[in-house]
Amino acid sequence: MTPEEKRPFVQRLFTRIAPRYDWFNRLASCGLDQGWRRRALIRGEIQPGQRVLDVCAGTGDLAILCARRQRGQGTVIGVDMNRDMLMRAAQKQQARRMGIAWFQGDAEALPFATDSFDRVVIGFSTRNLSDVTKGLREMVRVLKPHGRLVILETGRPSNPVLRFGYQAFLFTVVRGIGFALTGECWPFTYLARSVQQFLTPQQVVERLQSIKTQVEYIPLSCGLASLYVATKS
Ligand SMILES: C[S@@+](CC[C@H](N)C(=O)[O-])C[C@H]1O[C@@H](n2cnc3c(N)ncnc32)[C@H](O)[C@@H]1O
Repeated sequence: MTPEEKRPFVQRLFTRIAPRYDWFNRLASCGLDQGWRRRALIRGEIQPGQRVLDVCAGTGDLAILCARRQRGQGTVIGVDMNRDMLMRAAQKQQARRMGIAWFQGDAEALPFATDSFDRVVIGFSTRNLSDVTKGLREMVRVLKPHGRLVILETGRPSNPVLRFGYQAFLFTVVRGIGFALTGECWPFTYLARSVQQFLTPQQVVERLQSIKTQVEYIPLSCGLASLYVATKS
């Protein structure tokens, strides 16, 4: 798929699965996804008083956890290109109570000033970008000097047996869960393939280093999820 084809495809996919996205996440990750988000925010040192941007915010779970960590002191903005996903986020009661601001926008051309956020977070979305390097550059651009970019992504276990089992799980159980929830298979075939075809952790680290950040890679749950914390110089 070319980058020009990927963007409308990804739009159509998330519009289709938005009503069941949260259920899908919980079931497909066997309930681990929220724990991974929390660990990402702890390692990224999300704290009260910061200005935080959640890129590809989707239905808002990561942004809500950021706002919760800030205990009412600070700013959290969620940006996503998909209106249906953002509407689900904005409807969540916790999000309303916490005053999170939602914007429809493109991760590869962020509508925010350079050096304007203390933290930028992105969850399970880097592999959906049409141009990963362009997206990463944009996220680093809007970070203040010494600010941190926190990337949580579906992982690639280094153990070959576990990696094979995980791929098989994605193409069978996870696709089955998706079909049971939405009556469609194609979005979940894409999601499984996108995990299989995405950059290795080493390649993600190299891309982040090439845009002048200092990077730490932290595998979560034996590498089922990958966490990268990149500090802007
Ligand atoms: C797998 S969901 C992740 C949602 C959320 N971050 C989470 O933790 O569950 C991926 C999201 O990325 C968004 N997305 C993909 N490409 C994008 C882009 N170029 N700009 C903005 N949002 C994008 C999709 O619309 C979708 O809502």
